[in-house]
Amino acid sequence: MSELIYSPGLEGVIAGETAVSTIAGGLSYRGYSIEDLAEHASFEEVAFLILQGELPTAQELASFHGRLASASQVPDELIQTLRSLPDETPLMDVMRTGCSLLAHWDPEVADSSHDANVRKAERLLAQLPVVMAAAYRLRRGEEPLPAAAEQSLASNVLWLLHGTQPSVEHVKAMDVSLILYAEHEFNASTFTSRVVCSTLSDLHSSITASIGALKGPLHGGANERVMEVLQKVGSSDRAESWVREALANKVRIMGFGHRVYKDGDPRARYLKTLCAQLAAQTGNSDMEEMADVIQRIVGEEKKLPPNLDWPSARLYHYMGLEVPLYTPLFVLSRVAGWAAHVIEQLDNNRLIRPRSQYTGPELRPWLPLDQRSG
Ligand code: CMC
Repeated sequence: MSELIYSPGLEGVIAGETAVSTIAGGLSYRGYSIEDLAEHASFEEVAFLILQGELPTAQELASFHGRLASASQVPDELIQTLRSLPDETPLMDVMRTGCSLLAHWDPEVADSSHDANVRKAERLLAQLPVVMAAAYRLRRGEEPLPAAAEQSLASNVLWLLHGTQPSVEHVKAMDVSLILYAEHEFNASTFTSRVVCSTLSDLHSSITASIGALKGPLHGGANERVMEVLQKVGSSDRAESWVREALANKVRIMGFGHRVYKDGDPRARYLKTLCAQLAAQTGNSDMEEMADVIQRIVGEEKKLPPNLDWPSARLYHYMGLEVPLYTPLFVLSRVAGWAAHVIEQLDNNRLIRPRSQYTGPELRPWLPLDQRSG
């Protein structure tokens, strides 16, 4: 196998081509920088861009809104299944199950053509917030709410969770976080989608597998762990001693480091400003200070900059969202990116099947059962 290259964790390996996004020169989706998109676009415009390749015209955006609105419901049978799940089922597991269940009622589940996959992706964009909010409310002893279909997706997510009209600031914060989470080239969960669909499996199977990959704390699950850390530290005056001790004990600080951004994650830089504004508005300045102390020391000691999960966890906290919602919120957004990659992969598919470097025993003779010792 000497002619084959082995890179642990596939670091530095180009595993395919994509026109969906690039991290070259900062992160951009289909040629638009995430800073411009976060500043000027809505999540719907960004999801359309990611799925279709171009920004929507006003008319295209209006009909996209209409399609999302009419798909913002899930079958009663799915809600009944959510009711029957054990109370302690993690919300990310419910998202994975929910996505898989949605396949059973999707009218085009077996059609993996480009156009059918775009339509299925749109339906998932509309349905997954309903699944998340229904599961969240049921475990709190509250009934699921019907979607406020005329609202933006960001506003609808907050409405579906709480049943109250969200503030303009909260809708903006949700919208920006969804935009920043929407796509990120060949990250682990996206690559998972591409691997699954490369076998000519279907979109729902690919996205369900991606949700499983996103759940891990080294990937999307980090945003929940970040908040757990901040809650454990408790206050800015405890931050320095906590982080120095954690680093001395070789603890991995969630929300720091990145496989591909060694000089910092542009999404984290962008979100920090919004995070600080919301902290000031909601009386959370001490948590912001605590985060700054931790960030400074991790930077000094380990040269590790924060990634997107570092500010987004705080942003969600300042919006009054409970921690188990954080990674599911990531799902609602990243489904746009996952689906775009599935569509792109299938437009020019080749089975993804790498090799491994064997580290097991040399070839050896068969040992009959009566000759084997304990
Ligand atoms: N805290 C402390 N040390 C760290 C951290 C961290 N967050 N990240 C990396 N290191 C150290 C690691 O211990 C290792 O040290 P040593 O060489 O002494 O053993 C060295 O840096 C290299 O680590 P690695 O895991 O081989 O590096 P990687 O490029 O594979 O790691 C990472 C990328 C994201 C898995 C890692 O930085 C990490 O675990 N971060 C915390 C989890 C996290 O925040 N994940 C979110 C990623 S970005 C957004 C998303 O996908 O959701």
